[in-house]
This record gives sequence, C-alpha cells and structure tokens, in this order.
Amino acid sequence: MELLRVEHLKKYFETPRGLLHAVDDLSFTISQRQTLGVVGESGCGKSTLGRLLLHLIDNTSGKIIFDGEDISNISDAKRRELCKRMQMIFQDPFASIDPRKTVSQTIAEPLRVFHLGSDREISEKVAEMMDLVGISPRIRNAYPHELDGGRRQRVGIARALILRPEFVVCDEPVSALDVSIQAQIINLMLELQESLGLTYIFITHDMSVVRHVSDNILVMYLGQVVETANSEDIFASPLHPYTQALLSAVPVPDIDHKTERIILRGEITSPINPKHGCRFASRCIYAKERCFHEDPALTEVTGGHCAACHFVKEINGL
Ligand SMILES: Nc1ncnc2c1ncn2[C@@H]1O[C@H](COP(=O)(O)OP(=O)(O)O)[C@@H](O)[C@H]1O
Ligand code: SF4
Ligand SMILES: [Mg+2]
Repeated sequence: MELLRVEHLKKYFETPRGLLHAVDDLSFTISQRQTLGVVGESGCGKSTLGRLLLHLIDNTSGKIIFDGEDISNISDAKRRELCKRMQMIFQDPFASIDPRKTVSQTIAEPLRVFHLGSDREISEKVAEMMDLVGISPRIRNAYPHELDGGRRQRVGIARALILRPEFVVCDEPVSALDVSIQAQIINLMLELQESLGLTYIFITHDMSVVRHVSDNILVMYLGQVVETANSEDIFASPLHPYTQALLSAVPVPDIDHKTERIILRGEITSPINPKHGCRFASRCIYAKERCFHEDPALTEVTGGHCAACHFVKEINGL
C-alpha cells in the first residue's frame, strides 16, 4: 500500500545571486513499511527534500500526498496533527535541543508538547521507549554532553518515535558515528521498522550505508533524480554515469567520518539559475554536444529501473 506520493515537488530558494534550485521536480512514491534510500553528494537537496516532506519549510510547487491526502498546502493546526504521524531523525539529534534537558526529559518533550498523558503516564511511556531503543534506565538523568555518539542517537530515535509516527525521515542518521557504531544503529532502526511498522526515507551520502537499509533507491544530483530502482538493481547494474561514479569511488581510510568520500572529477554545476542541459555534463566522461543544451528526462530503461541520461543505452550496451 502506498503511503507517500510526491509529484513534481520543487523548492527554490531566493539568493542574492538568483534562484537556487535545491529540489527541482521530484516525483516518487513510497509503500508502507518500506525504505526509500535517497543518496547523493552534499548540497544535492536531500535535507531540503526531507524538510519539505515534514513541512518544516514550504514548497515552491508540486504535491505531497500522504495516506491519500494532499498535504502540500495545509493549515498550521493540521500540520501540528501530522507531526504525530511524521517525524525526523537527524544526524546530530542534540544540535537542535536544549542541552540542559536530561535524557528522559528530552524523550518526553513531544508528549508534553501535545499534552499526551499525566506525568506518570509520560514517565511510563518514556521508560518503555528507552527499553525499545536499548537505552539503560541508569542514564535517564544524564545530560546529552555526557553521552557517546551512539547513545545520543538512540535518544534521538526514542524522541522521534515517542509519538508513534508511521513515517520517519532519517537524515544522515549514522554519518557522524564510528563505523562500528553505525552498524548497531542501523540494525536498531531496522528492528524498530519491523516491530513498529515504520516507513522510512533514509537520506545519506554514503552508498555503502544506503545499500543495507533500502528497498528502493533514489539517486539525486543537483536537485533532480538521475536514477531510481530497487536497491538490488542499483548495485548490480547502475545505469547512470553519476551512479556508476559513486559506486566506483574508493572509500578513503576512516580518518574523519564526516568528510564525504565521493571522488569525482570536474566542477559541480551551480544550482543557481541552472542552464538547460544535463546537470552532470561538466563531470561526465560520456558527455556529448547534446548533453549541454537538452535536459535528459527520467525514463524507464529496464523493468522499474529509471535513469535520466540521453545515452544510457549506448553507455550500458543495451
Ligand atoms: N535556507 C536556504 N536558503 C538558501 N539556500 C539553501 C537553504 N537551504 C539549503 N540551501 C541550498 O540548497 C541546496 C541543497 O541543500 P541541502 O538540501 O542541505 O543538501 P544536502 O542535504 O543534500 O547536502 C544547497 O545548494 C544549499 O546551499
Ligand atoms: S545526459 Fe550526457 S552528460 Fe548527462 S549523464 Fe548522460 S551522457 Fe553524461
Ligand atoms: Mg543534508
């Protein structure tokens, strides 16, 4: 069953240098209990997409249909209600919260905002949630700065799930963590998906992370989808030159996990007032004359596997 449908979604930011096309005509669907991985380099519009879906920012145009209802232009009251059904897990859950709140106060906050239960009921719900995400009751009165990255992210997950949402946007949830901890958090998220029936959008710049969690994958480049398919097909036979480059990039040793590992040559085209043509052309080893003035449309190449490239068949010998 389809839970979310996005149609021609756009978000343009006004900047002193012109209109910045952060999200530029995205369309996709997500089924219940599935995970859509959204992958692409820093600045390609992933977080903007996540924020649009949760109404943290307004869209420029396009539709967001959640559970059969168009929620692209809704009242503030309705938006507040939707908050219970749609939540976000951030890269650093503590970047946006009060450092003077303890673990249990942090997790309880959404319940308090919505006045959901007496003090005792709230405290029971928090204890139950802490158990579910594997946080020891011993640290319930600890402060965020006293916790390591993995525990902090468990608290972030607990806080996002305390209202029992159906749909969760996970924005680089493991990108700030050590690789050993990443696997623990990913496994926890997969278990929670199963037990709570969650639907995820999993945003990351890291191809190796997206592979483990996604049913379907959307590869983004400068605000647009360049390739989409189920996870297996993307990894077995990437069709778009950009995806191929992402997959061939050699991970550098794990010195600083926050640096992005993608190695590609050429200048990234500016997202401000982009010209016609393929946005990847300046870095594409296959680029021809046509690529620089004609936009490639996202088209189905093989069953359910779509790419936006004029020469996708030639490049892949199809
Ligand atoms: N509030 C804003 N005002 C202007 N430009 C923005 C704003 N938020 C994001 N951008 C721009 O939109 C583009 C996409 O950003 P973002 O969605 O954060 O990308 P990602 O999450 O993939 O790194 C970037 O060029 C970024 O600079
Ligand atoms: S349309 Fe041209 S520039 Fe763009 S990916 Fe395909 S071959 Fe490369
Ligand atoms: Mg981001």
